[in-house]
Amino acid sequence: KMQGKIQMAKEMSEDKKLYRYKGVLYPTLMCPEEHMTALDNLKAREDDLMLVAYPKCGFNWMVGVLKKIIAEATGEKNERKTPPLIEFFGPEVVKVMEESPSPRFLGTHLYPDNIPPSFYEKKTKIMVIFRNPKDTLVSYYHFCNNNPVLPTVSWDSFFSQFMKGEVAWGSYFDHALAWDKKIDDPNVMIVTYEDLKQDLKAGVHQISNFFGFTLTEAQVQQIAEKSTFNAMKENSGQSHGNIGNVFFRKGEVGDWKNHFTPEQSREMDEAFNKHVAGTKLGAKLDY
Ligand code: A3P
Repeated sequence: KMQGKIQMAKEMSEDKKLYRYKGVLYPTLMCPEEHMTALDNLKAREDDLMLVAYPKCGFNWMVGVLKKIIAEATGEKNERKTPPLIEFFGPEVVKVMEESPSPRFLGTHLYPDNIPPSFYEKKTKIMVIFRNPKDTLVSYYHFCNNNPVLPTVSWDSFFSQFMKGEVAWGSYFDHALAWDKKIDDPNVMIVTYEDLKQDLKAGVHQISNFFGFTLTEAQVQQIAEKSTFNAMKENSGQSHGNIGNVFFRKGEVGDWKNHFTPEQSREMDEAFNKHVAGTKLGAKLDY
């Protein structure tokens, strides 16, 4: 299905690739209005596992980790298929999800306020991964230029679009501030890309505990080993088909130093200090 969308994207004019829904830009082919309204019918369950990330903060990495945790904890032989983002579902997949057995694994890049309210009412466990904004911007820039469903863009114009929040799924800063408000909610856990890079084993442990799974030390170790950047990149053909390399680019902290001009770095520092630095999430991001 993704391959079909990519083919359509190749024939689409650049200026049509994003459209605005309720004030926020989205990729036209992946999140048409029909998909956004279908979310009204997606009913959360208490035992759903919800993974949230602003684009390029490490969503696919955590998908890999969570699928492995679920497979080990439930004894399922095969890893689940990638959970598409709920905003990619559309009415048919929403219906299929209704019939799917628990625990369901769902994901989204939506602002917390645009996630269907039943996820909060049911107290579904929501894990959020954040990443420092400079590396997120770099990763997003490359992604736009390698994924045909998003418009190709020059570095300088992407920089200013990102700073203004005029990119698909909206403003990094607004996402950060909105999640910061939920940081003390016991059903929300925020982890960072940088912490996971530093100690993935500790991360796997923390994530499985949060979702209520008990794994042995050996299981945790094995999941961490299979979820390194290199291991996941090698497996990307299987997990993501022939666009796998687009999702596993470099996988490092600090690549922004190879892209930002000193002026752009200052501009980001100012924006971060102004919007995020004083918050609990800002402290966690260790900017
Ligand atoms: P880079 O472009 O900096 O390499 P998302 O999945 O949210 O789209 O995020 C993509 C980013 O996560 C990419 O960053 C990608 O390389 C990185 N990534 C994917 N798997 C990873 C892993 N196992 N370890 C570290 N980074 C990973």
